[in-house]
Amino acid sequence: MSDNYLEIQGLHVYYGNIHALHGIDLSVGKNEIVSIVGVNGAGKSTLMWAIAGVLPIAGGTLLFDGAPLPTSPHRIVALGISLVPERRRLFSTLTLRENLIMGAIRRTDREGIAADMERVFALYPVLKERMSQRAGTLSGGEQQMLAIARALMSRPSVLLLDEPSLGLAPLVTEALFDTILKIRDEGVTVVLVEQNAFQALEISDRGYVMQIGKMAESAPAAELLGNPLIRKTYLGG
Ligand SMILES: Nc1ncnc2c1ncn2[C@@H]1O[C@H](COP(=O)(O)OP(=O)(O)OP(=O)(O)O)[C@@H](O)[C@H]1O
Ligand SMILES: [Mg+2]
Repeated sequence: MSDNYLEIQGLHVYYGNIHALHGIDLSVGKNEIVSIVGVNGAGKSTLMWAIAGVLPIAGGTLLFDGAPLPTSPHRIVALGISLVPERRRLFSTLTLRENLIMGAIRRTDREGIAADMERVFALYPVLKERMSQRAGTLSGGEQQMLAIARALMSRPSVLLLDEPSLGLAPLVTEALFDTILKIRDEGVTVVLVEQNAFQALEISDRGYVMQIGKMAESAPAAELLGNPLIRKTYLGG
């Protein structure tokens, strides 16, 4: 099962009359980091929302660990797939700690929740110091760490990250990407959507390049990074 832990074939998604995804194929192996890069409006976020069950699917097959993915977002989270949406969507008037607890809202194992809170503080020590601070008062980088930490509180086996580096300074982005590698090392499979295509591919095993509504390329990340045509056409360099 490890080659196609998350397997998507022929996915179609519409917004009313707008045909946003035209038969997308995506295959993610267990414990891989897979990046999806592509221009604005290509449909990267649409793809993430569709996997997370937030958008209705007009056609195609979505399998997780060999079984069809449920259609309800709650059941998809319960199954172990957790989305950190673009622009974070934190509860800005709640404290950092309350945001983390919201991430574990469907769990009842108090000890497990406490242990996972320690686990995310080990990953993001700065969050521990800010536990009682309202999320809206954190820096952009801290808010992104909190958004990922909150998703980790549902104990996902697959983490979907939509533009985690958006609006962050280069050094903060670099630190954030280091923690994505650590999360993977703890056994989490990561699907990463990024505008920072080069940096994303540098920490990825494989990459997909999306054009408007379609997948244009998929290859090992190093191969995409080393291909001059791909660099020029899709990676802006
Ligand atoms: N709620 C919506 N209603 C109608 N069309 C939408 C909606 N959300 C997105 N779209 C359209 O679907 C297409 C894909 O958008 P999407 O946000 O998935 O792209 P993206 O690759 O994530 O872009 P970006 O890099 O800007 O985040 C675009 O043409 C967009 O205008
Ligand atoms: Mg997007």
